[in-house]
Amino acid sequence: MSSDPDNQFIDRPLRSFGRIKSRAIKPKQAALFDTLLPTIALPDPKTGPVDPAALMPGATEVWLEIGFGGGEHLAEQAARHPDTLMIGCEPFLNGVASALRHIDDRDLTNVRLHADDARDVLDALPDGSLDRVMILFPDPWHKVRHNKRRLLNDETAAVIARVLKPGGRVRFVTDWLDYADWALERLQRTPGLVDMDPGEGDWPQRAMTPPADHVVTRYEEKKLGDTAPIFLEFRKQ
Ligand SMILES: C[S@@+](CC[C@H](N)C(=O)[O-])C[C@H]1O[C@@H](n2cnc3c(N)ncnc32)[C@H](O)[C@@H]1O
Repeated sequence: MSSDPDNQFIDRPLRSFGRIKSRAIKPKQAALFDTLLPTIALPDPKTGPVDPAALMPGATEVWLEIGFGGGEHLAEQAARHPDTLMIGCEPFLNGVASALRHIDDRDLTNVRLHADDARDVLDALPDGSLDRVMILFPDPWHKVRHNKRRLLNDETAAVIARVLKPGGRVRFVTDWLDYADWALERLQRTPGLVDMDPGEGDWPQRAMTPPADHVVTRYEEKKLGDTAPIFLEFRKQ
């Protein structure tokens, strides 16, 4: 267990997320924690492997969104791709409540949630089991002493490379230039991952153009960063 007081409830060395709850959750959304969540929750990844094939037999693809926030992107992608299994991970309970509402309102049957740290799910997934991984506007952890909390680091990049199928893709998006530089450096040095937009010199224009299938996220709309969103996309060899 860490001696960091912010980190006393989990056995990971460092938390990559902030609060797990803010304002009170509305009664209707709170009820979904008892009714809907148990039916779509992933098995506890700390107790054994998570096999996507068993979660939605017949799914044509398996996608993982790490840190889905309020779940708007997750729900929209799930609605657009009903034959794809969408796994979403998010420890912020107000975000999970919001996602449950979207899933319930839209009658989505292809979403499975883990209301906690995505890194546990990554560790529990078999090699080559995912078609896509999405990390959209992760917490920037700017201060140099906080950089080590960043979700994207050499370890997570290596695990993502392990769980992607050959030809599978990871998308990383941020509107903070220093995190884009940080992530690009780490993804580029991860064995097995190939930059789909290597460009030359400074940020290639294409990295600043949202991919056609991008869905604008709630955090993106806040425009809190210091640059227009930068889209990194890497393919598993
Ligand atoms: C800045 S928010 C962005 C949310 C959403 N992707 C969007 O663009 O609106 C980053 C989210 O990542 C979540 N997060 C951070 N570390 C995580 C982890 N290890 N596993 C899953 N989610 C994580 C945080 O709780 C937070 O909700």
